[in-house]
Amino acid sequence: MSRHRILLVTYPAQGHINPALQFAKRLISMGAHVTLPITLHLYRRIIHLNSSITTIPNLSLTAFSDGYDDGFLAIDHTVADFNLYTSQFNSRGSGFVTNLILSAKQESQPFTCLLYTLLLPWAPRVARGFNLRSAQLWIEPATVFDILYYYFHGYSDHINNQKETTIELPGLPFTLLPRDIPSYLFTSIPSPLSFVFPYFQEEFHELDVETNPIILVNTFEALEPEALKVVDTINNLKMIPIGPLIPSDTSFSGDLLQVSSDYVEWLNSKPNSSVVYVSFGSYFVLSERQVEEIARALLDSGFSFLWVMREKEEDLKFKEELEEKGKIVKWCSQIEVLSHSSLGCFFTHCGWNSTLESLVSGVPMVAFPQWTDQKTNAKLVEDVWKIGMRVDDKMDEDGIVGREEIRKCLEVVMGSGEKGEEMKKNAKKWKELAREAGKEGGPAEKNLRSFLDDMLEENA
Ligand code: UDX
Repeated sequence: MSRHRILLVTYPAQGHINPALQFAKRLISMGAHVTLPITLHLYRRIIHLNSSITTIPNLSLTAFSDGYDDGFLAIDHTVADFNLYTSQFNSRGSGFVTNLILSAKQESQPFTCLLYTLLLPWAPRVARGFNLRSAQLWIEPATVFDILYYYFHGYSDHINNQKETTIELPGLPFTLLPRDIPSYLFTSIPSPLSFVFPYFQEEFHELDVETNPIILVNTFEALEPEALKVVDTINNLKMIPIGPLIPSDTSFSGDLLQVSSDYVEWLNSKPNSSVVYVSFGSYFVLSERQVEEIARALLDSGFSFLWVMREKEEDLKFKEELEEKGKIVKWCSQIEVLSHSSLGCFFTHCGWNSTLESLVSGVPMVAFPQWTDQKTNAKLVEDVWKIGMRVDDKMDEDGIVGREEIRKCLEVVMGSGEKGEEMKKNAKKWKELAREAGKEGGPAEKNLRSFLDDMLEENA
């Protein structure tokens, strides 16, 4: 029997499932058994696309119905839809997780601890009801955690100042502008994702109730040395870097969309460092006008490009020209693309998974953050790690960034000018540091092992 039996709970979205599965992989490689409850719809999608995941030793993917067995997380939902969905997911999920803990106890195979990703404030409460230790798997940078922590502990007016004044937060070695703040906190700006605010609020409240709370962060020491310590100094809360959680193969793939089949051959035909990879993650959909501006910028730049397009292709302008100069796919194996020798830069929304995947692959970025944590991530990419350039500060009054601006940024990052070279050099440096942190027997593994040993000791 595995020494550690871990219950790992995740919100049912691609950007949450991916790091959760990579985390499960790491735990299993260290001798743990992982139970990962997931909604029936996602379970069916995942095993349809990766059936061998059910045969991985010491991984129990276990399905429950959230009442939306045909799927919910498609595009075009309102805040009210999200609220309804999340409250139903939470009530059914917490009931299911409670039963899992009970059965494990009855079968004399109790869990060592419960680990949970974002938007699940009920998870630590359920664990406390059983005297079971819990910890959060924070799937965004430590810096974002700090900003949220400060916001919910007396700094809300300072952070949400809405003016172009700099925001200084104790312990963080850089200042921020309102444009760098996670969109979660701008509750007055309408967005379908505004529904997350009360969940974060509740989650941070739970951390205040918890004795010696622990946050396992998908980052590494060299990347955010100060941010990892900020909260330690003001509370008993401990942040432990256990990242980067990045796939090394497809065995733990939790893709919800079918990977297109023909882009690898296309990439193979391109010279080294010549291709721009364009993707805005698993959820965000660009407006038709923005798609047009990006399309024109790519065509005018003359670079080859691989574009993951989640928007409708029917009305796509310049379709023929785009298909001639580049490749458009519905979904790809992103880590495979980023580690391909033909890659020159990643035009990205700066989701945290994408940012880390780019960093681990040594690929510089053109950052076009949209919402959630992406603006903060883009700030880190551009100003702190200096591996990319932001285009979102060039938006017009309709929130569109024009073709000229995008093209200019692509040319700088892809080019051999001083700025482009510096970014490439920095990207190489971060790639080495990321690999060092995540290697077998490296700091991420050591930190996680010591966390697990502490959990066992507390249960003894
Ligand atoms: C969301 C938020 O936007 C993000 O900021 C937060 O940190 C996590 O939740 P998402 O927008 O999907 O996630 O972006 P990201 O975090 O980058 O995750 C997307 C994942 O999908 C990545 O792991 C990426 O490798 C994968 N992906 C994307 C593919 O495998 N293939 C694709 O074609 C596109």
